[in-house]
Amino acid sequence: MFAFPMQLLFILFSGVGLAAVIPEPVLMERARGSFRLRGEVNIFVPTGNEQLLTHARFLSRHLEGIPDLNLTIQRYSPGQALPSRGIVLAIDPEGSVAERYILEAGSRRILIKGDDAAGVFYGIQTLRQLLPYELETGLAEQSLSNVRVRGVYIEDYPQFSYRGMHLDVGRHFFDVEFIKKYLDLMALHKMNHFHWHLTEDQGWRLEIKKYPLLTEVGAWRKETLIGHGSRPPFEFDGTPYGGYYTQDDVREIVAYAAERHITVIPEIEMPGHATAALAAYPELGCTGGPYEVETRWGIFEDAFCAGNDYTFEFLENVLLEVIDLFPSQYIHIGGDEVLKNRWKECPRCQARIKDEGLADEEELQSYFIRRIGDFLLSKDRLMIGWDEILEGGLAPNATVMSWRGVQGGIEAARLGHDVIMTPVSHCYFDFYQADPATQPLAIGGFLTLRQVYTFNPIPPQLTPDQAKHILGGQGNVWTEYIPTADHVEYMAFPRAIALAEVLWTPRQKHDYDRFLKRLSDHKKRLDALNVNYFRP
Ligand code: ACM
Ligand code: ZN
Repeated sequence: MFAFPMQLLFILFSGVGLAAVIPEPVLMERARGSFRLRGEVNIFVPTGNEQLLTHARFLSRHLEGIPDLNLTIQRYSPGQALPSRGIVLAIDPEGSVAERYILEAGSRRILIKGDDAAGVFYGIQTLRQLLPYELETGLAEQSLSNVRVRGVYIEDYPQFSYRGMHLDVGRHFFDVEFIKKYLDLMALHKMNHFHWHLTEDQGWRLEIKKYPLLTEVGAWRKETLIGHGSRPPFEFDGTPYGGYYTQDDVREIVAYAAERHITVIPEIEMPGHATAALAAYPELGCTGGPYEVETRWGIFEDAFCAGNDYTFEFLENVLLEVIDLFPSQYIHIGGDEVLKNRWKECPRCQARIKDEGLADEEELQSYFIRRIGDFLLSKDRLMIGWDEILEGGLAPNATVMSWRGVQGGIEAARLGHDVIMTPVSHCYFDFYQADPATQPLAIGGFLTLRQVYTFNPIPPQLTPDQAKHILGGQGNVWTEYIPTADHVEYMAFPRAIALAEVLWTPRQKHDYDRFLKRLSDHKKRLDALNVNYFRP
């Protein structure tokens, strides 16, 4: 009988009245007072910290819509006591947990203190969610005057260092403006890796100066399949389709992401899913072509020729430009779904197998991936590949993205390799999210919001030491059946939000029903941000 009133007190003082924050913070408690965003208010940043200045500007822009508020950004000396009034951004000199922050709001001050700049940024994202959703539009109305932040104490840090979202821009192309919106939505939910799937059979989307035909030819297909078209007769729309990112576009996106503490990981697919590149440079294939940029979906016979040294020279030159554009430590080289028929029939590939003492075409794939991995390592970059790179022997230093299930991830972790979990069972946001009869055409599969929320990136089979190799997880958005930006949003949200909480919030705090309650509030914010999320 004692437990009941205690629980009630807990609900009264800690739950009710606190805004819906997603992902749910590690610790969030009510505190005394409330901070009025009215009149003259300073945002303080430590002198000399450019990142925090950027974050102060982000916050200041966010608060612009409050009509009776006059904000000024001020500096303070980080060696001295923290300012006692206003909004204070600070770095904890003793802090040692990546991305951690505390947020204290009281009547005089809102303090956001991070162990690092990312932590401060995430504290600001939390503060954003404590503020009226109307501010998201930047067009707050008079009714928004006298905005307050209720007293609160928050301590927060992520469970996983890799919290990713992927986007396939090969099957369909999405413009720079949309990529920025996608990054903004990732940042709001504290996700920190954007896996940009840039090359496919149906389109090469990245300008490479040394090989201009990659985009002049490879970025365009003559038409697109209608419907699923899994077997003939195929029906096409008759409309040429394409697009690509210039290197300036890429620099703009990488910088935009970096301001939001998002690392952009480019994926350059090899040796399969390469038809668009072969259409541009047929000498890279085993048969020499001719090839056409694919107009249907699926897995195709042609791959880069693994017996031709020119293939490696070409890919290394491409990767040199990629390395120059993307500061990410990781470069993704694909490695999935390679049919080996062409290699079996190719005299150069067969000579390579013989010369290198390889057993078969599986080991030839492994040779290919290792050679590219060694090249990346020589440039101080690390390779990520889909779990097929385990076949025929895993390259040293490779990080495995486990997608066909978690088995590849388990195997890689046992071998001492880092792993990102993105199994079809929980992370494929191109799958149906409700009864297909009620949904626009999708690739297939079935993945509900609830199922995403139950995802545990750490398989129980792993020992604690092996589990340390699981860096986190990622949601994948393959776009064969997702032709528009609106449709990307529809497939990604709210499932990406469930995943964000899975990867950030401690597992013992996961509670689907409470998540749904918070999400129902949060949807007003998504509406204000003009997100076309799925409404069940
Ligand atoms: C994949 O879905 N082919 C990685
Ligand atoms: Zn070949």
